[in-house]
Amino acid sequence: MGALSNPQLEYRCGKLFCENVSLEVLAERFATPLYVYSRGTIVENFSAFHRHLEGILSLVCYSVKANSSLGILSLLRRQGAGFDIVSGGELARVLKAGANPGRIVYSGVGKTREEIYAGLEAGILMFNVESAGEMDVVASCARALGRRAPIAFRINPDVEAETHPYISTGQTIHKFGVPKREAFSLYHQAAESQDLQVVGIACHIGSQILDTSPFLAAFDEIKELADKLRADGVDIGILDLGGGYGIQYADETPLDVGNLAKEISARLAGSPYRLALEPGRSIVGNAGLLLTRVLYVKRNSIKNFIVVDSGMNDLVRPALYGSFHEIVPVSGPPSRCELHADIVGPICETGDFLAQNREMPEVAPGDLLAVLTAGAYGYVLASNYNTRPRPAEVLVEGNEANLLRRRETVEELMRGETI
Ligand code: LLP
Repeated sequence: MGALSNPQLEYRCGKLFCENVSLEVLAERFATPLYVYSRGTIVENFSAFHRHLEGILSLVCYSVKANSSLGILSLLRRQGAGFDIVSGGELARVLKAGANPGRIVYSGVGKTREEIYAGLEAGILMFNVESAGEMDVVASCARALGRRAPIAFRINPDVEAETHPYISTGQTIHKFGVPKREAFSLYHQAAESQDLQVVGIACHIGSQILDTSPFLAAFDEIKELADKLRADGVDIGILDLGGGYGIQYADETPLDVGNLAKEISARLAGSPYRLALEPGRSIVGNAGLLLTRVLYVKRNSIKNFIVVDSGMNDLVRPALYGSFHEIVPVSGPPSRCELHADIVGPICETGDFLAQNREMPEVAPGDLLAVLTAGAYGYVLASNYNTRPRPAEVLVEGNEANLLRRRETVEELMRGETI
């Protein structure tokens, strides 16, 4: 079993604690399944970005899609975060959490007119435009409102990043961004438009990337283009490198953000650019866990199954990407792993597992397990499949645990339906 990925988790007298709060107590108080986040870890992760970027003119735009709970957005806003959003819904969330619109970047391949209007009305920092068609729509929306829309183009730098194919985004085979060649003429068109204000260049090459070299390759691509455009009089001010900074789930070494920042700051020395980053997972991933209770232990002639009260509707990453999440007992630490088992949920699908072929300590019905590193792309991807209400979410701060979101009810799931 690897080290606990969240420095705020530890066993004290045989019980797992998040900061100074016992997970057993949280399960009693809020029931399971339950998402639990450590405030200290989120703040530390965010501050680390700032520390690494000291000396670089920069803006850290937390990528809201990783975890969009209002309490977490508001916490990050108070730490000085800007936000990377991808929908009108996320815009509404960050505004509700008190975001400064001048620190919001809006990414995504399929923005609607309504969403663009909402972004313009809010006065966001920039739209990261992903196609010529979108540029025209943004310009026409701006014209209708009598404003100039601040834009960057998201460049598809055609660099390969080693990660799961579903979350790799920076190659020509992917739907994202515009090719560099096309971008050059688009920038010139945009610079001549009365309705658009060119402010930056953006890219995002994928997620859970552990190696710095693809980021540097992408950065070099966008900086080279920015330099060329500036030489032509197009006023690029912001270089947005996107997100994707990989974290530790099992025994991988997380991306060295400090080293990446050092390389980038060397490249930025003496240049006029402000760096924007859009980290999501690396801010909230290791800060969160999913607390679940064992319902049954089933054994057949070849396999053992630990059936728990949360499933793919609560945390879909293992089913969707085959992702690994460390699972540890709340009463522990485990001395011996004696049970070779799949940890599965109650949903009627074979893909409904949280882990497969895992070495676990003997567990019994009623025991609590913590599914670690579930703070990013956990709750946000939860669904109501099998009419299962989504879990509650709790933020732990020192000795206290505050409910960020109460558990859904079945009544709420049926609201809006007709018979
Ligand atoms: N910026 C853009 C434009 C993005 O598309 C993403 C993530 C991010 C920033 C943040 O990336 P991060 O720092 O969190 O890696 N559901 C998948 C991950 C999908 C990532 C989508 N885009 C998962 O559970 O692994």
